[in-house]
Amino acid sequence: MSVLEILIYPDPILRKKAKPVGIIDAKIERLAEDMIETMYAAPGIGLAAPQVGESIRLIVVDVTQKKEAPIVLINPEMISSEGECFEEEGCLSVPNLKEPIQRKQKIVIKGLNPEGNNIQISADGTLAIVLQHEIDHLDGVLIIDLISRLKRDIFKKKLLKKMNNKEA
Ligand code: NI
Repeated sequence: MSVLEILIYPDPILRKKAKPVGIIDAKIERLAEDMIETMYAAPGIGLAAPQVGESIRLIVVDVTQKKEAPIVLINPEMISSEGECFEEEGCLSVPNLKEPIQRKQKIVIKGLNPEGNNIQISADGTLAIVLQHEIDHLDGVLIIDLISRLKRDIFKKKLLKKMNNKEA
């Protein structure tokens, strides 16, 4: 396994709608393993394939303390949800931004596991939030899209300043 480079906003790959995975072959399995290692190394509690430059519908999450129960989900889809919550989130691809984000409180997700079997996950709390966050990545949606326009403008201005300083 190897740790992959995590793409940072405004990389255009992060904005693309990722393609469904067709055949789960050795390449996909390897990518999932590398993504798990990359997530643990970051450290993070979730990672979506576009964040490592692969525009396909594959996510990994692990919200456990011991970091030994990774979930790999292929072509994940939210099939039901209830309630609302508003918790602070960050994103490995959007450094230096931590803001409360509105999410569904309880969700049911369906998808495929690496063996190609249909699975369903009922989640609430942190797991529900991370799953929604990672599925957003597959549609090119980032947390900066989910905060107020004012906060977004401030973030972009700061980023622009940073980028200009680097080039100078
Ligand atoms: Ni993220």
